[in-house]
Amino acid sequence: MSLTEERTTTAHVVGRVEDVPPGEGRTFVAGGEQVAVFRLRDGSLHATQAACPHAGGPLADGQTDVDVLVCPLHQYAYRWADGSSTSGTAPIRVFAVHEADGALVVTL
Ligand code: FES
Repeated sequence: MSLTEERTTTAHVVGRVEDVPPGEGRTFVAGGEQVAVFRLRDGSLHATQAACPHAGGPLADGQTDVDVLVCPLHQYAYRWADGSSTSGTAPIRVFAVHEADGALVVTL
């Protein structure tokens, strides 16, 4: 994004923290867009686009560790930090997500 370009972001409550079991991901709709929200076993939250850019795999069903998300279809791995692919393929979008009074809040 250039310095002259402004982008509006909006926070969306998509569900409750307990909707996502520890170590798993779930798909929600935020602002008309499907997003995958993950709750890692260390308690951290992450949010990404729901469909893998490679062939549409359901990223919420992927395996996770503290650094990456692995798509369940062809095992491409994406970094939580910036959505980049570890193998140089197209990145995924990552979104800010936090918990507020038990609610999951995703900012798009
Ligand atoms: S659909 Fe995700 S790696 Fe192929």
